[in-house]
Amino acid sequence: MSEVKSVLVTGGSQRLGALICRAFAQAGWTVWCHYQHSATAALALCQELRDQGAQAQPVQADLADDAQRQQMMAQIHAHTGPLHCLVNNASSFEPDSADALDPQATRRQLEVNLLAPMALSSLMAQSLAPLAASATRSIVHVLDQKVLNLNPDYFSYTLSKLALERAVALQAQALAPRLRVCGVAPGLMFLSGPQTQANFDAASRVNLMRQSIDPAQVAATCLFMAENPCITGMTLAVDNGQHLVPLPRDVMFVVDDLLKAPPHAP
Ligand SMILES: NC(=O)c1ccc[n+]([C@@H]2O[C@H](COP(=O)([O-])OP(=O)(O)OC[C@H]3O[C@@H](n4cnc5c(N)ncnc54)[C@H](OP(=O)(O)O)[C@@H]3O)[C@@H](O)[C@H]2O)c1
Repeated sequence: MSEVKSVLVTGGSQRLGALICRAFAQAGWTVWCHYQHSATAALALCQELRDQGAQAQPVQADLADDAQRQQMMAQIHAHTGPLHCLVNNASSFEPDSADALDPQATRRQLEVNLLAPMALSSLMAQSLAPLAASATRSIVHVLDQKVLNLNPDYFSYTLSKLALERAVALQAQALAPRLRVCGVAPGLMFLSGPQTQANFDAASRVNLMRQSIDPAQVAATCLFMAENPCITGMTLAVDNGQHLVPLPRDVMFVVDDLLKAPPHAP
């Protein structure tokens, strides 16, 4: 009988996180759905997955708190043993700029977007025997196409995701052969920050394919990375080619001007 694999999805209660939980559950994985404030959504999602025959448990933690990170990992370990996959999906996305930096806000985003994934990765690696080779175990960092397509908006958020993107290769080297480390870099999927629905509808098609990105495909790519034993140290962009459309600012701030611009001559 094949071993039941377990995954922890941080920020798993809604939006992309919920789709990642569903993708893994449908593939037969035991899902730990982490949440911070969204208890109702996390409990409802786990019930939905259990109703479909999957194993799913909610788990609460403030990822900015080291003690809570450790307690969460110990709780999971006690119930289902060492994780087979950790999907670092939770994130903090706050607008700021390099010329008016609020160190507190920067620290908050680095803690959730960078330090928490590093700390959880370390705890996962420590739960595995140092020399035990296991291509079935992995960490997937959810990044952002911004790391391949720089603009200075959302400065601290971007900085945190850039470091996380570099950590993919660094951790792949450091944590092998116990586990693999991969990145998935989505493009714009959900309305965020100060965006209106109209702005989102237009901005979500600013990519090579001129179509909005299906977040379920991003979730499916996280599962693909977790299940492919030969991929480590690599990031895949799942963004309809958004990273190949350079813009001077975040798309939400320039899309109205883009739409007003005359079409390019053939
Ligand atoms: N949204 C997009 O279009 C987009 C585009 C490119 C990349 N991404 C990346 O894709 C991932 C998912 O995006 P999303 O928009 O679905 O995420 P999101 O809704 O902005 O955040 C996901 C979850 O992160 C959790 N979280 C935030 N701070 C936390 C903390 N201190 N401790 C614990 N949990 C915390 C929240 O959990 P609770 O609700 O339980 O508090 C939240 O539901 C992120 O890594 C993001 O950077 C998103």
